[in-house]
Amino acid sequence: MGDLFDFDQPASLYAVMGNPVAHSHSPQIHQMFAAQFGLRVEYQKIQVDLGGLPQAVANFRAAGGRGLNITLPFKLDAFRLADKLRPRAQLAEAVNTISFADDDRIIGDNTDGAGICRDIIFNLERPIAGRRVLLLGAGGAVRGVLGPILEAHPELLVIANRTVDRAVELERHFSSFRSVAGCGFGDLKDQQFDIVINGTSASVTGDIPSIPHTVFAPGGLAYDMMYGDRPTVFIEWAVRHGAGRTADGIGMLVEQAAESFSIWHDRSPQTGKVIAALRGAGSA
Ligand code: ATR
Repeated sequence: MGDLFDFDQPASLYAVMGNPVAHSHSPQIHQMFAAQFGLRVEYQKIQVDLGGLPQAVANFRAAGGRGLNITLPFKLDAFRLADKLRPRAQLAEAVNTISFADDDRIIGDNTDGAGICRDIIFNLERPIAGRRVLLLGAGGAVRGVLGPILEAHPELLVIANRTVDRAVELERHFSSFRSVAGCGFGDLKDQQFDIVINGTSASVTGDIPSIPHTVFAPGGLAYDMMYGDRPTVFIEWAVRHGAGRTADGIGMLVEQAAESFSIWHDRSPQTGKVIAALRGAGSA
């Protein structure tokens, strides 16, 4: 790992595209990763109008851009735009990482699922294999992480959603994995889980999915894919109702970025210090 930058090399250009995008921590995270290897990277935030992703990506490529992160609400647009998809992006039907082939073809990948799995298994030291996992929600956030979580071999993965049909539809989409089931919140009574992941957007409005209070197995992990500078309402609720450990989505944010970084730079950055730095800075 080098500390010195090579100032003879021009900085290579990366960016995150979203709407809104001003709040994004990605530039900060990628600069910290780049510094670990002495790489010169320029990482921009680009706000894109709805419907404007294809043009924005073309402009970015024409300006010499090497790779893109795609955030809300464009992950499905990026999936449709990609000329070639990595299998995990194909399964998620969502793209959060774009790279460009030599012939300029757009290659779409999705690092969200790898990010949450790495955070849970390595940072939080909670195995997924053989465990009972509950995923709350059935929107894009959940769809993006389902494949890699199932590939980590949970004993059972239950998707519970306010609108039951959406959970059942996801069960169908992922039915090649036999350990997956979709249901409504009411169906969770009498069930306990080792890992409960909140992938709903309920925290945004200060709401908590209406799940039974008994959902945590002894010592169970409560994981909110959202984060803020204070514990989310879901985390506070989980502490009151028997979760043994809690985590917000900062670790996932950094780990999905690390996976994107390794796609672009063929090097795996260290994440622990970056997670600590973001937490220390207050990560709203
Ligand atoms: P995203 O792409 O961020 O996942 P989304 O597709 O709009 O966004 O999905 C939001 C998810 O949060 C959905 O699962 C939604 O439940 P419904 O499918 O029933 O709409 C869930 N959600 C939002 N607000 C919620 C609330 N107050 N209680 C429970 N679930 C909620």
